[in-house]
Amino acid sequence: MSILGEPYGGTLVNLLVTGDEREELGRRVSELPTIELDSRTISDFELLANGGFSPLTGFMAEADYHSVVDSMTLSSGLPWSIPVTLSVSESRAGELTPGVSACLRDEQGLPLGVIEIQDVYRRDKTLEAEKVFRTTDEAHPGVAALYSSGDIVLGGAVQAIRLPAHNNFPAHRLTPMETRASFAERGWRTVVGFQTRNPIHRAHEYLIKVALEGVDGALIHPLVGDTKDDDIPADVRMRCYQVLMDRYFPEDRVELSVLPAAMRYAGPREAIFHAIMRKNYGCTHFIVGRDHAGVGNYYGTYDAQRIFDDIDLEALGIQPLFFEHAFWCLRSGAMATTKTSAAEPEERLFLSGTKVREMLANGEDLPVEFTRPEVAAVLMESARSA
Ligand code: ADX
Repeated sequence: MSILGEPYGGTLVNLLVTGDEREELGRRVSELPTIELDSRTISDFELLANGGFSPLTGFMAEADYHSVVDSMTLSSGLPWSIPVTLSVSESRAGELTPGVSACLRDEQGLPLGVIEIQDVYRRDKTLEAEKVFRTTDEAHPGVAALYSSGDIVLGGAVQAIRLPAHNNFPAHRLTPMETRASFAERGWRTVVGFQTRNPIHRAHEYLIKVALEGVDGALIHPLVGDTKDDDIPADVRMRCYQVLMDRYFPEDRVELSVLPAAMRYAGPREAIFHAIMRKNYGCTHFIVGRDHAGVGNYYGTYDAQRIFDDIDLEALGIQPLFFEHAFWCLRSGAMATTKTSAAEPEERLFLSGTKVREMLANGEDLPVEFTRPEVAAVLMESARSA
């Protein structure tokens, strides 16, 4: 059983080495073979290093990989839904063998850390796509990213020299240790986490506020790693979140910080993955609404909620809060769901993200029933200057 509020697996992992050990590692890296990480793997490295992926202490070795793909658990039996892998091209396989250490570098060549290679294995990407994404369609952005990665996978423990450098949102880049400290300082015992990769619209605000009625605080935790090209860029989204923070959420009950993860668009499996990370950041509850982490029509509206029936919720140790598809109810003049509104179907105003993107592209005003006017202003301004 995993306790609400505890880090996943019981202890918050911290892979950053300090003091003499760090200096020694810094000297050693120049003699080691280099693996240059792409931006998605840099995101994974950061979450390994800062404990967002606790209890993982490195990239997955073969036993964990197969267990996660086949049965959604680590080999220890703890639920885990998405592989965290370091892949390289076939041509590196001769040099990167078990027992070898390699330096992990960012795209500028700066050393981030070291992996001690324990396992080298080949993965079946089609099988991984089928199991994790429920599709092998290359038009799916997560499947496309998987297919473009290397065939050879390196598993092994990681030591981190530094966290990846970021030049945006420095005030909102709290690590799991920092969000936990902040919640403790605010006296919050129960915290709901909200994942998003979109600007905050009325539906999002509704879910957060309804959830807030039952807990001490909310962590608005936008994902700012790689997203697909037509998603709204993270800096624009941050300006939208700030509007809500400044005007619509009580300051002492809501915290805004970013999650450095890359988006997989794996729908149901990613909902569990998102919940696990938020547990590590100190959340006790996690919002899962309609088509969470979905893309196109690959997943059913509530598949990402149903998947929680297939895992051991006690072992997960974070309470999912499920929400129906929220809409603007014309009869009551407020946000609602079918659980809270008596309106007829024609009195329910749904607006899809695709429709909103079309309206922005055509320079049309976004309706107040969909988005706060101040948020609409940020979006329209950024669409004009794009
Ligand atoms: S996601 O890819 O991060 O899931 P998005 O940022 O749109 O996309 O959604 C954030 C959270 O809000 C997810 O839990 C999603 O299911 C939920 N959500 C988004 N829109 C609605 C809606 N209209 N009704 C109910 N839940 C929603």
